[in-house]
Amino acid sequence: MNRENVLKLENVSRLYHQGEQAVRALDGVSLDLKRGEFVALMGPSGSGKTTLLNVAAGLDSPDQGRVLLLEQDLAGMSLRQRARLRLNEVGFIFQSYNLVPVLSAEENAEFVLLLRGIPTAERRRKVRALLQEVGLTGMEHRRPAELSGGQQQRVAVARAIAAEPALVLADEPTANLDSETAFALLDLMERLNREHGTTFLFSTHDPRVMKRARRIVRLLDGKVDRDERR
Ligand SMILES: Nc1ncnc2c1ncn2[C@@H]1O[C@H](COP(=O)(O)OP(=O)(O)O)[C@@H](O)[C@H]1O
Ligand SMILES: [Mg+2]
Repeated sequence: MNRENVLKLENVSRLYHQGEQAVRALDGVSLDLKRGEFVALMGPSGSGKTTLLNVAAGLDSPDQGRVLLLEQDLAGMSLRQRARLRLNEVGFIFQSYNLVPVLSAEENAEFVLLLRGIPTAERRRKVRALLQEVGLTGMEHRRPAELSGGQQQRVAVARAIAAEPALVLADEPTANLDSETAFALLDLMERLNREHGTTFLFSTHDPRVMKRARRIVRLLDGKVDRDERR
């Protein structure tokens, strides 16, 4: 598998029907992400950011156009094949963390490794190292309710990268964090991007977060309005 071409959207459209009305959540979007990119997806509320991330992950299908994840056309794959590709190659970070409340930080972080059938001892070793990397040593056994928002989001980051995916998709990962915590999270994402070569695509409408990206893709009404590298 060629790991350089991480994500390619070719002229992707996604229509939603709201009663009589059709909403073009995505309208002819093309986007090409290479290995190691660190990309912010900007745009006002309703501009299509979440839809784009869902389509990129194969969680939602376009009405038109093609989505290639690691050069594999998602349209040509069964649900099972897509799920497998996602499990192996895509990590998610959500605005609301989405941790499992009854599981500890460590158990949440190792969840994807468990699904992948990695043996217990190896899982534990890997997850301990990761939690250390995200600054949560000593908190391995705490449940989400016993962690701050920033700490929960760090667990979510650890979970997202545990299986060393080619691509991490993050939907407004700093939305619920104060700015100090948001910057710390961004530092962490940048470091993981640099050290592991993981490609990041994260949506935000925070201009301070945007400044840290090396490439900014701006959506407006479901279209790419600007795509700038810095
Ligand atoms: N499941 C859905 N059903 C109907 N309309 C939707 C659905 N999801 C998104 N939309 C519409 O698509 C547009 C883009 O939404 P979204 O991708 O969530 O934008 P953003 O994440 O930038 O706020 C909006 O007009 C939204 O109302
Ligand atoms: Mg959204």
